[in-house]
Amino acid sequence: MIRIRIPATTANLGPGFDCMGLALDLWNTFELHIHGAEIGGGPVVETYGEGQDQLPKNQDHLVATVMIEQLGKICPHDFKIICHNNIPCASGLGSSSTAILAGLIFSEAVKRHDQGLDPSEINLESILEAAVAYEGHGDNVAPALLGGFVIVVPDQKGVITKRIPHVPMRAVVCVPQFNYLTKDARAALPAQYSKEDAIFNIGRAMLVSEALRLGEDGLLAQAMNDRIHEPYRMSAIPGAIQAKEAALSSGALCVALSGAGPGIIAFTKQKFDRIGRAMKDAFARSQIESRYWILDATSEGTKITRLPL
Ligand code: HSE
Repeated sequence: MIRIRIPATTANLGPGFDCMGLALDLWNTFELHIHGAEIGGGPVVETYGEGQDQLPKNQDHLVATVMIEQLGKICPHDFKIICHNNIPCASGLGSSSTAILAGLIFSEAVKRHDQGLDPSEINLESILEAAVAYEGHGDNVAPALLGGFVIVVPDQKGVITKRIPHVPMRAVVCVPQFNYLTKDARAALPAQYSKEDAIFNIGRAMLVSEALRLGEDGLLAQAMNDRIHEPYRMSAIPGAIQAKEAALSSGALCVALSGAGPGIIAFTKQKFDRIGRAMKDAFARSQIESRYWILDATSEGTKITRLPL
């Protein structure tokens, strides 16, 4: 029925915990075919690429789970979802956010189809609010939906967003083979922070935003520092602190935990492979295998295409 293309994202960007995210040029694609599975056999999910051997092939796949929750009784019984995944799973690059968005968009598409409307003409603003509510924070789903660099803040009436479409930035993201679930990474954070730490982050989050908007690399390098989440998370990921140091000493402008990790993102405009290899070697010294990606920021967000029925 429809195909959706959704980009990877890096959330937090150092000091912007839960409020800032950037879309990256690496994509997951999801197709929904209603009546695509065998009649009576329940939903079928096929995955190709990242996660193909681990992700569920039935209603337990996150995209299907979201659809079933959203649609309730009107959910078709025999739909088929085909996922082509380029974003590594559980890496800190927003792969679960792409699945949540796909599930919400597919739900709207089914509703529109049932009403005789074009299933691909979906209001992305209402999807954004639902996605922020579903995930509990918007710093992956907002840039994944809208593209570019997005500041996103929940509000009583929904969400406030400010999007800066074009960010002239490239990054090397190194993802260790280490299981660090977002739920555990969030549980590791304190319930309260000191006034000093709050002030430290507020000022730096504003500077990171300005540095990205204006392309001021020196300012980005000075400002990307955090006291809200990284100090509590980095030490739980073997080799992460060393990978950050290795990337900085190999020429990266600045380095952060990508989202809740375990991926480490090094912003740079040069020495990409050297920085990637340095991070990989640092993880290897902690007996952790890793892979790295060299990724541009992208101004493109989610794209929906109608497929022939
Ligand atoms: N802002 C979120 C966190 C991103 O750091 O927990 C991960 O989903």
